[in-house]
Amino acid sequence: MSEKNIEDPIVKKVHEIYGSVIKKRTPIRNPDLMLKVLREEYKLVVKPYIVYLTVAAFMNSRPVLYEGPPGTGKTEIGEAILTLWSGKSAFILPCSENYDEYRVIGDFHPAMAMAKGFNEESFIPRPLLAALILDTGVLIDEIRRSNEDFQNLLLDIIDKRRIIIPELKKVYVQRGHGFQIIFTSNPLDIAQSDLSDAFLRRVVRIEFKYPTIEEEIEIIKLRLGDLMNKINDNLVMNALKIIRVLREKAIYKPGTADLVSWLTLTALLAESKKKKKASIEDLREAGYAVLYKNTEDEELLNEVL
Ligand SMILES: Nc1ncnc2c1ncn2[C@@H]1O[C@H](COP(=O)(O)OP(=O)(O)OP(=O)(O)O)[C@@H](O)[C@H]1O
Ligand SMILES: [Mg+2]
Repeated sequence: MSEKNIEDPIVKKVHEIYGSVIKKRTPIRNPDLMLKVLREEYKLVVKPYIVYLTVAAFMNSRPVLYEGPPGTGKTEIGEAILTLWSGKSAFILPCSENYDEYRVIGDFHPAMAMAKGFNEESFIPRPLLAALILDTGVLIDEIRRSNEDFQNLLLDIIDKRRIIIPELKKVYVQRGHGFQIIFTSNPLDIAQSDLSDAFLRRVVRIEFKYPTIEEEIEIIKLRLGDLMNKINDNLVMNALKIIRVLREKAIYKPGTADLVSWLTLTALLAESKKKKKASIEDLREAGYAVLYKNTEDEELLNEVL
């Protein structure tokens, strides 16, 4: 069944369940325009190579793997690019060890299945199937946290661009080009498993790196908005330098997400103390609150803050 078939009870159910949460917008597939919209609407400063490679992969219906350190925007950038590409909000699947087809494709309502059998009526479609039917993107977050069976299940869907539901004897096939997949992963996270060669062969891997000082300044301005008035340039430069030392030496390596939280908290701290400008003390106080995640980093934090 490759036709749009709203008569199909599962398709109908998907529209009923997920239709209202999927917001539509004009699709944007031109990478230069995408970069501009990412910045202006989503407040995301994205390195151009990320957008060019992602768009190139999508043109070939190939999934993309964003790999890089925590807090570098992988999840947010992935969600935004998928949304722009398909013109509909993307689904996010945060992986865990026990992720399986029932969680992402669909399962049966236990009581209803007892009463009426394992049929279309008792079947509950889940996000991956919904995304394929609605022709929208899916972000599969932290793929290394999932188990191998789950990754293998995805391989078949990626290759064939279709989802089979054996219990219902049904096959759903991708109809448009909106159904694209972005995986994210942090290979430095020691608790995580390796991805198989079979998996890596099928994805376009894109490495995320920390932003440059100039990029990070721009991100801070975009994210803090009016709160920037509370923070002098020299405090910003201090924070940027400290973050870089920590990225090099600390166990907990702060990402841009931490930098933004740190400076936001610094500005709000000044505001709550009814001060016009944040002081170096406010920066330090907020710094301990945001950057202290690991007892082994205590000494280093005392040194740099
Ligand atoms: N390039 C960027 N442009 C704008 N904001 C950014 C950027 N990178 C990181 N941020 C900040 O970090 C936050 C999002 O980080 P996100 O959670 O997407 O990172 P991540 O790489 O997925 O991290 P994790 O590995 O911890 O999941 C944003 O809300 C923003 O404050
Ligand atoms: Mg993430």
